Amino acid sequence: MSSRLAEVTEAVFAQLPPAARFTEEDEALFLRLAPGLASLEDPLVKVFYDILFAHPQTARVLSSGERSERENALRRWWRRTLQGPFDAQYWQWQAAVGLIHVRQNVTNPMMIGMWGVILNTLQVALLETLRLLPHEAARAMESLHRLAATVQALTAESYLRHYLLALSHSTGVSTELIHRLVVVELSSLDPSAQV
Ligand code: HEM
Repeated sequence: MSSRLAEVTEAVFAQLPPAARFTEEDEALFLRLAPGLASLEDPLVKVFYDILFAHPQTARVLSSGERSERENALRRWWRRTLQGPFDAQYWQWQAAVGLIHVRQNVTNPMMIGMWGVILNTLQVALLETLRLLPHEAARAMESLHRLAATVQALTAESYLRHYLLALSHSTGVSTELIHRLVVVELSSLDPSAQV
């Protein structure tokens, strides 16, 4: 993995309050539930891609190749996530997804929206398919929400940083100067006028 992905991963972990991050306890619980969660792969993949192919903006992004090929990205991700470990390599891979998404024209609203779909689908499946007791399902959802927050933070922050880095390389303007220009430019806007 590149040192840039290591850097963005470290920065995101430093920024995320510990209570918001996926923890070792979450990992232990998650890996205990993994055999049951693995059985949800097919329904999860179906819901995910049915939604993306039914919406023109996201269908356009997935237009190349067969649906089964597109599905493989999520299948691989789900399997590796359930297998553990949640180590530096795993978190840096989540940051790499941000970079890959920029190249593929996948936006953060698309990615964040689909995380919501995954969480809602899993919540129903924990109760109705895996038949967890309500308090067990609630505890599992707590862990899943921390996983979602951690992964989304990595993917979205890496998206922004790689966007800025590419802009910086292609124009020769440092990312620090771009940031200062952005702050100056935005200081004259009055967001309260929108409320
Ligand atoms: C929960 C949200 C999402 C997660 C966890 C996720 C995860 C991933 C992963 C793990 C990869 C493969 C990275 C690699 O090659 O190592 C990937 C690639 C890709 N993702 Fe996403 N993604 C999400 C949302 C989306 C959405 C909403 C779209 C489309 C609108 C999308 C389209 C793509 C495309 C086109 C690729 C390139 C690889 C391929 O399809 O062959 N992703 N994503």
